[in-house]
Amino acid sequence: MRHVIVAANWKMNTTPRDAGELARVIGSRTREPGVIRVICPPYVCLAAVRDAIAGPDVAASDGMGVAVGAQNVHHEAAGAYTGEIAASMLAGLATWVIVGHSERRRDAGEADELIGRKLRAARGAGLRSILCVGEQLADREAGRAEAVVGAQLLGCLDGADLADFGTEGGLPWLAVAYEPVWAIGTGRTARGADAAAMADAIRRTLVALGMRGGEDLPVLYGGSVTSGSIDEFLAEPSIDGALVGGASLKPDEMAGIVARAGLTAAARGAFAKPSS
Ligand code: 13P
Repeated sequence: MRHVIVAANWKMNTTPRDAGELARVIGSRTREPGVIRVICPPYVCLAAVRDAIAGPDVAASDGMGVAVGAQNVHHEAAGAYTGEIAASMLAGLATWVIVGHSERRRDAGEADELIGRKLRAARGAGLRSILCVGEQLADREAGRAEAVVGAQLLGCLDGADLADFGTEGGLPWLAVAYEPVWAIGTGRTARGADAAAMADAIRRTLVALGMRGGEDLPVLYGGSVTSGSIDEFLAEPSIDGALVGGASLKPDEMAGIVARAGLTAAARGAFAKPSS
């Protein structure tokens, strides 16, 4: 049975003054048995979000609580990298990290090999990763979306010990977020069936790469997800949740999205859905 995950990518929004309160409101309005919730604020807001939703023991926020994630991490352990943050520096602040987001591929020139190094650095420091992959519109229109995403996975996981990225202690070390680049921030979503086919292809690739338990790897959809569009994706048994951008800053939207994810978790028998 695969985990159901809803992760909020706040991108470059919120400040240390307002992030904690937003996280607290979202956390209190999204309690759904069986849904792993992760809030990923900017680095400078990690402590505020942790204090608001997780308390000082950030590890305790995993599982049924709300977990805190970073939006990026550097691939080296320490050194002369002005402005960068190493994985070990996130200890006590975050338990998850987003790597390979298309905005970083686009704006910071991150390529698969570097993203792979970030993945390994994160795992080495005990951080769970959400690895983002996704094709450009021209790739989808040319019928090569699966080939592009497959190549991204191969490039990012080359050199990784895949045995390290399975599930441990009831939680996965790796989730993949399929985020078609043309669907991010555009209001245009992929079709649920296309996203589901991609999720299956991602798991097939990981199994072919030799990942034990690759068939249980959670695959999330991301790209203009709202409370109105989430059903199209979670109606697909192959999709295990969402990585939410713009809508994740709105408590009403997050409440709707996580409520829908709760139905998926209950249907999978993750937890009995309380009768109310
Ligand atoms: P939007 O939900 O704003 O399209 O962003 C998606 C995303 O990039 C999440 O990582």
